[in-house]
Amino acid sequence: MQLYALFMHKIPVGVLGASGYAGRELCSLIGRHPGLDLAFATANERSGEQIRLNGRSIQLIRTESAPLDSAALVFSSLPHGHSAAWVKKILDAGAKAVDLSSDLRPGHTEQQIVYGLTECRRAEVAEADVVANPGCYPTAILLALLPLLECGDVASGATISVSAASGTTGAGSTARTDLLFSEVTGDFRAYGVGNNHRHLPEMREFVRGTGSDAELLFTPHLLPVARGILATITVPLRRNIADPLALWKERYSGEPFIEVTESLPALRDVAHRNVVRMTAIKASGISTPTLVVLSAIDNLVKGAAGQALQNANLMLGLDEAEGLPH
Ligand SMILES: NC(=O)c1ccc[n+]([C@@H]2O[C@H](COP(=O)([O-])OP(=O)(O)OC[C@H]3O[C@@H](n4cnc5c(N)ncnc54)[C@H](OP(=O)(O)O)[C@@H]3O)[C@@H](O)[C@H]2O)c1
Repeated sequence: MQLYALFMHKIPVGVLGASGYAGRELCSLIGRHPGLDLAFATANERSGEQIRLNGRSIQLIRTESAPLDSAALVFSSLPHGHSAAWVKKILDAGAKAVDLSSDLRPGHTEQQIVYGLTECRRAEVAEADVVANPGCYPTAILLALLPLLECGDVASGATISVSAASGTTGAGSTARTDLLFSEVTGDFRAYGVGNNHRHLPEMREFVRGTGSDAELLFTPHLLPVARGILATITVPLRRNIADPLALWKERYSGEPFIEVTESLPALRDVAHRNVVRMTAIKASGISTPTLVVLSAIDNLVKGAAGQALQNANLMLGLDEAEGLPH
């Protein structure tokens, strides 16, 4: 397969955890990418199964059997807790790595690993051998907050309150009774209430890194849809901002995967696309100047596989947008 890739002038890449939701999405994006070739795809219990990719049949091999040195870059889409050790093996084999798990994200490791929130870490990602891909909620929340954090307009000592809802693929493909169709359909409920979700450490580190002393209060919810995240973020401000959307439009001008809109973002706008769609609206009727910022992403694309591929494109010297669905 590597010879085929070289003959076709394509760069060989591998995917660990290719039978999972994020890994499958990655394989599908790689299959349509003009510059990449899938050198191998691995699974755990489902190794030996075949997956169909754009007319090709790929056999899932055991992760332990992956020829890591046959790839220029390997995506690790393994569960958190299992991924970091494999990233080390990937680097030892001479390949670059993009880790989709939380293992190497800020707040989870002492190592200084580049945090692949592409729109604000572009230069570091392009130089990196290993990138920690952000979580799905953090991608939706931090990119929506970034223009405000960068201009220092969040009120000192503020609590930024985030209510966000995700489709069920966000929980991975391991069978769970509470995620059965008959449990989820027609329902809407919060989970992880109490401000201790696994994604908070990376979000807190990121906010602190911008110089803001604001705190986050994050409550996730489960939506009865397969994919998508909608985040509603309430931000107390230092001062009134006359035209809040102008700030977002200026910060994200020319960004291929950020959509700043007058209208309220919805999941149907972003499904199967590598975009974050966002808006900001002034809250009336309260004394503290406050903005309500909303953002929507597809958790499996911009929230996982798409952003991972965006980072990989930069790490491999390709056009950042190549092979990505707008
Ligand atoms: N789902 C999302 O929206 C999303 C978004 C951002 C980041 N992520 C991150 O991406 C990673 C994958 O998430 P996912 O939702 O795709 O999970 P998933 O559907 O549960 O898939 C996990 C993958 O890892 C394999 N695996 C499980 N245990 C393993 C082990 N002990 N050793 C080796 N392989 C093992 C599974 O193989 P078998 O199928 O053969 O068991 C499967 O291929 C996670 O770290 C997650 O936090 C997910």
